[in-house]
Formats: sequence, structure tokens, C-alpha cells
Amino acid sequence: MKLTMTPQQFLSEYWQKKPLLIRQAFPDFDDLLTSNELAGLACEEDAQSRLVLKQRGQWKLETGPFAESRFTKLPKKDWTLLVQGINHFVPEAMDLLQQFNFIPSARLDDLMVSYAPDGGGVGPHFDSYDVFLLQGQGQRLWRISEQTDRTLVKDAPLKILQNFQTQQEWLLEPGDMLYLPPQYAHWGIAVGECMTYSIGFRAPAAQELVTEFLGFLQEHVQLQGLYEDPDLQIPMHPAEISAQMVGKVATMFKAIAWQNQDVAHFLGQYLTEPKTHILFTSPRRLSFDKFCARLALEGVCLALTSQMLFYGDMVFINGECVEVELVAQPLLQQLANARFLPPIKTPSDDLARFLYQWYQAGYVLFR
Ligand code: SIN
Ligand code: CO
Repeated sequence: MKLTMTPQQFLSEYWQKKPLLIRQAFPDFDDLLTSNELAGLACEEDAQSRLVLKQRGQWKLETGPFAESRFTKLPKKDWTLLVQGINHFVPEAMDLLQQFNFIPSARLDDLMVSYAPDGGGVGPHFDSYDVFLLQGQGQRLWRISEQTDRTLVKDAPLKILQNFQTQQEWLLEPGDMLYLPPQYAHWGIAVGECMTYSIGFRAPAAQELVTEFLGFLQEHVQLQGLYEDPDLQIPMHPAEISAQMVGKVATMFKAIAWQNQDVAHFLGQYLTEPKTHILFTSPRRLSFDKFCARLALEGVCLALTSQMLFYGDMVFINGECVEVELVAQPLLQQLANARFLPPIKTPSDDLARFLYQWYQAGYVLFR
């Protein structure tokens, strides 16, 4: 990738602040898949796909998986096919995402690819994501607006802004890229056939984080004892919840406490939790010794669908957390960062044990 500035400058001046158009961010960019391959993925159970059509001024949304025949009956213009999580299927897509590693992978969501014939697009809208919109084959006209009017078209099957006011527009050519912070209004219209790659970074809503964290606490907080009232007084109104009872329970709740370590534990599990449609397939049985022999020759890589993060001695993979002894940490951290490990001849006990366990679960593979 060729940013027109250092990643540090990008982060301080643009990230989460304002849009940036980077012409030829990926010079000579070659599509990672053809429109036919994209349509093929949209027919698979484990890909999330959508078709958005605009017919006689009305927006229509269909969700996949699609039957192959669906693609033979589409109009010539004004529709688009979008497939999420392309990095789960196409190794080159994972390589593309790795180029954005100046942003922590804890913020990364996925790569979505869209195909559209002339006029196709999802209409004017905003996302709750930071997104890099990289132009593949063909051209797309991007219109953007700083507007705060987020009124949506009523009864439309997808979020369409009712009063979109273009403030800036650019025609993107293959290899050009547009960065947009969350909530920034935008509208991309295919000019002739085109493909667009959306590299999305999730910005979880505070409410969502809190709800999920409360669920985590439910499993991790253990309070001792029972409600006690040896000082009970005869009530004036038997049906009244007394102020004493409220006070005692409030005091009991004050024992619910957490440290940053618990927040990290929660975040690691939450952020690496696979989406519900993702399944891991276990490989053919392999003994621990044979596994170690292959590890020494081949090294391992993460399965395309695996998500791995770490915090201190905690390593998270696909929603699970393990605590790792010091000697194994550098290599497991390397696996999380680079998604592969070169051959390892003498792994520590912990390293071999965890890698074998994850190999059996289908989380890591031989390269
Ligand atoms: C598209 O690729 O058409 C949609 C991308 C977006 O607007 O988020
Ligand atoms: Co968007």
C-alpha cells in the first residue's frame, strides 16, 4: 500500500476524524476474485451475502445464500451484490487486510467485496464503521457529506438517507481508496461494471460493550453469603420494601468489582468470538508426536476464519482464553500478529500443547 503520508500522520490527522482520498493507494491493484467467483461465494451457506436492487425508485434487499439461477435473472443495471468476510475464503484477502496492520487487529472487522453493473450501489447511507473503500476493477463515483441529518427513508428494507446532500464527489479508479470515519454519509454509484473492496473496522457501541460485559461478569463474579437481617424491625406496612433492605442489597452489590485484567479478558474473548455462521472443521486425527514432527518441518498458520489476540500472558483465540507461560509468549504473540509461525524444532511444553489443541479444533493449520 502506498499511503501519501506516514501511517502515524494518517492516524493523527484522519483516523476517526475526517475522510481521506488516496489516489493509487494500491498501484496496479488486481482483483482478488472475479465477479463470477463472488457470485459463487454468495451461493455458499457460510458466506453472508446481500443483493440490493433499485427498481422503479424502490429499494429491494435480498439476503443469501442465493441459488445460482438468481444471477441469470438480474436486470442490466442498478443492482449490487455484496459479500462479507471474503478474508475467510480467499487467502489473498487476508494478505490485503494484513497491509492495514498499522491499525490494531482488535479493531478489524472484515473485508466485504461488492460487484455492481452500471448504476448499482446501496444508496446514500452511513455506517457505524471506519471503512477504507478500495476500488477494484471499473469505476465508482463516491459522493460524501458531513451532514448530521440522519433521517432515513421510511419503510425501506435498508438504511437509506432521506436527505443526502453531496458535499464532495470523486470518481475512483482501480487502486484508488477512500477512507471514511464512522457515521460519515456516503453514496457510491457504479460507473459501468465495478468491484469495490470495503476494509471495515468495527467501532462497537458503548451499549453493546456494556451488555456483553455484564454477561461476562455474570459468569465470573462470585459473591458469598445470603441476605441477612438479624436487626429486622416490625414493619409499619408489610408490603413496603424497606429502606434498610434496599441499603443492604446496595451494599452487597458494591462487592461486584473488576480490574483492568478482567476487562482485557472480556475484550479478548468478545473480540475473537467467531460470528455465528462460522464453523471450524477438525482435520484428520494426528498424534501429538506426529504433529510436533510436522511443526518442526512446516510451521503453522491460523485458519482464515480464526481470530487471535493477546494481552499480557492471556492469549485469545476464537472466543477462548488461555494463560500462557512466559517462554511460550513470544511465539504465540508472533502467531497472533503475523498469522503464521515458521518451523519450530524445539517448542516449549505450553507452545506445543496449545498449538496441538488448536490444530485439533481447526483453528491452526499446517502452512
Ligand atoms: C459498496 O461496496 O457498494 C458499499 C460499500 C459501502 O458503502 O459501505
Ligand atoms: Co457504507
